[in-house]
Order: sequence, then C-alpha cells, then structure tokens
Amino acid sequence: MSDKTISGFSKLSKRDKIKWLAKNFFTDPDMVIKELISYWHSNESQQKVIDGFSENTVSNFVMPYGIAPNFVIDGETYAVPMVIEESSVVAAASAAAKFWMNRGGFHTEILGITKIGHVHFFWNGDDKLLSQIEDKIFSKLKNEVKEIVERMEKRGGGITKLSFNNLSDKMAGLFQLNAEFNTCDSMGANFINSTLETFANKLPDLFLEQEEVPESLKDIEIIMSILSNYTPECLVKSWVSCPIEDLGFVSGMSAHEFASRFHKAIRIAQVDTYRATTHNKGIFNGVDAVVLATGNDFRAVEACGHAYASNSGVYKSLSNCVIQNGTFFFELNIPLALGTVGGLTALHPMAKRSLEMLRNPSAEKLMSIVAAVGLAQNFAAVRSLVTTGIQKGHMKMHLLNILNHFNANSTEMDLTQNYFSDKPVSHHAVRKYLEDLRKS
Ligand code: MEV
Repeated sequence: MSDKTISGFSKLSKRDKIKWLAKNFFTDPDMVIKELISYWHSNESQQKVIDGFSENTVSNFVMPYGIAPNFVIDGETYAVPMVIEESSVVAAASAAAKFWMNRGGFHTEILGITKIGHVHFFWNGDDKLLSQIEDKIFSKLKNEVKEIVERMEKRGGGITKLSFNNLSDKMAGLFQLNAEFNTCDSMGANFINSTLETFANKLPDLFLEQEEVPESLKDIEIIMSILSNYTPECLVKSWVSCPIEDLGFVSGMSAHEFASRFHKAIRIAQVDTYRATTHNKGIFNGVDAVVLATGNDFRAVEACGHAYASNSGVYKSLSNCVIQNGTFFFELNIPLALGTVGGLTALHPMAKRSLEMLRNPSAEKLMSIVAAVGLAQNFAAVRSLVTTGIQKGHMKMHLLNILNHFNANSTEMDLTQNYFSDKPVSHHAVRKYLEDLRKS
C-alpha cells in the first residue's frame, strides 16, 4: 500500500489532518500548514458551524461575494448577492439590471411549485389491477406518514398527489409510486425523502393485504425511494419588454439592428445544441451565483435546468425572444426548486445575510429573483456577443487580475490599462509591459 494512504483520517484533529496532508502531498509543508490555517475563520464558533457542513474539513475555500444593485423585479428594487469566481459576471448582471431599471424592470410569474419524488419498484401486475387497489393503498400510505406531514400541512403544504407510473414498457416490471408535494418555503429534500422512505417500508405489506391481488402478484421488490431533482412543474417565468425604440443605441448600433441581431442570436441557441449549451451556461452564471449566495443547492438547480432544456427531445435555449408589433420581448422559463427556510439557509451566516438583503423572501419570491438574474445575465452576454464581442469586458477584468497578481501600484495600473485599451491582453504581454515600465 502507498504511504500516501491512511486509515482513520476522519478521526484526526484538524491540525493533525493538515500536518499529514502537508507532509505527504506538498513540497513545502510548513508553508502549506500556515496557508491552510490562515483561511480559518477568526471566530472559533463560526468556524465550527462551517466545519459541520461537511466532513474532513481542514480549511475554508474563499469565493468572492459580490452585489448586483438596481434590480427592479415586479416593481420592487433589490441589491442581489452573488457568489461567483468568474470575472465580469457580477458586472454584467449589474449593467443589465441598470439597463432594464429604466425600461419597466423585470417581471415574473410563478407557473408552479410542485416538487416530486418516487418509490421505484418491480412488480408483475398491470395497470388494470393497480387502478382497482390504488385508492385503498394511497389512503393507507397517507395515514402512515401523518406525523411527518403534519407540520408541513400546518404551513399550508403537504402531499398534493399520489399516483402509480407504469414504466414496464421501458424496463420489464418497473413501476413507480409517484408522489407530488408542496413544500412551502423549504426546498423540502429531507421532508420528501423521509415521506418516500416511509411509503417504501409500508408498500410491500399493502400489496399483500389487497384481496384483489392474486397470490402470484402479491410480491413487489422495492429498489429505492428518492426525490427527483427534475421538477418541471416548479417553474418560474421572467421577462423584460419595451418598444424597440426604447432600447436606444446599443454600443453604437441602432435599436432595430440590435433587436434583430439579438433575436437571431436567441434563435441560434434554439436550433443548435452547441450554442444552446454555452447560452444556458451564461444563464446559470447568474442563477448559480444567487442560488449559492442564498445557501441553496446549485447542483440540483443546474441538473434540473439542463434536463428541462431538453424536454422537447433536443437540448435548447432556456430563453426566448419575440419581436412583434414594434415591441422587444425577452423571456426565461426556468424550473427552480429553492428554499428560504431550513437547510443551509439558516445555518450559513452569509446565506442568512443574503436572504436578509433580499428582504427575507418566500421561496416563490426567491424563484422570481433568481429567474430575473438569470435573464439579466443572458441579456448581458448576448448583448455583448452581438455587439462588441465578449472579450472586451472579460479582458478588462482579466487585466485587473493580472495587475493585482504583479502587485501593480495605482500609477502602474492607470498606465497599463491605458496602454492595453486597444491591444490584446495576455499574461505574458502585461508582465513584459510592467517589467519595461518598472525598468524605466
Ligand atoms: C461565459 O461564462 C458565458 C458566455 O459564454 C455566455 C454566452 O455565450 O451566452 C458569455
């Protein structure tokens, strides 16, 4: 066995974990130990809270926490927190927010809030028999989870529908107990999974009990029970709209020319999967940043969004542009299973602050805010792409990062930014310019 393996790593103290890691995987262990410790939170109890989110935590990985102000969403103004490491994303969202602020802002509509989960099982019966026994089974299942759903029902939610899905045409004998939920302001993963696991424990007995089921069909084999991150009916629509003239000149382009080029760019993302993937990635630049800042599960949101983008059988743009009767209309339909209570939202101190900044929204309100930011991000990216190109903005930020890397002072910053205003930026070119500048 390699000397780089270890058993009992999780039992070591945090300092011992770091020491072992530094000794075995780095060439400068003392430096690494210092660096990892330097990112510990100065407040020990806060650090304990963060450590508790995961396992084998040795340090914190810092990401920028930025603000996109001036978001007018359904008539209310927000400063939106965004956690993202990619330069230009927050600047682009802010620019789009400001652009639409004077053109009516962002509008949203919640199209559904249904969360979903399944008990997957194998059975040799058929739909006809299922339809004879399902009502009895469902009422007994609901009875079984009374205690789990009681609190959710008090908040106005609970189980909204139970049904059976027959998937035996896809895989011999495969059925699902399909459960739909309203989880109010929580994302609801624990509530849904606990309910489903209780269903799964009871379901075999319920099949045994049914008189209508012949002996040969009494056995079911439960495989698993889990929520689905595909929630196409937990959906929000966000849109912006204005007379084409009101778009004004966009990077030296007339409003009509801009609108027409923008419309074509969106169409390309609807017919070409290569472009659609990048286009939707741009939407998720904004979506993920707010989802992360509010302590929500960005992997779940991404997985669902991309599955939804393929719901026609072909992966397409999540946004759509319509130009009609002199009006520019740009919309985003996106499934977002979010929570504003429970989970990390209350535990992570910065997630808590983010929600406070957003005036402690309901889960539906947060869906609206996130969808508006996704649309803004998409607008900003496509606006750049069809006008100046994306590199101009990116390179400005890239140049700043390089200058910070070389510890440039403010005079060096001004001179270098001026010099590169009409030249391509590269790490090598900036280093060379700075070296020459410093020599002179
Ligand atoms: C880069 O992170 C995102 C963009 O590529 C999105 C797009 O192309 O629409 C700029």
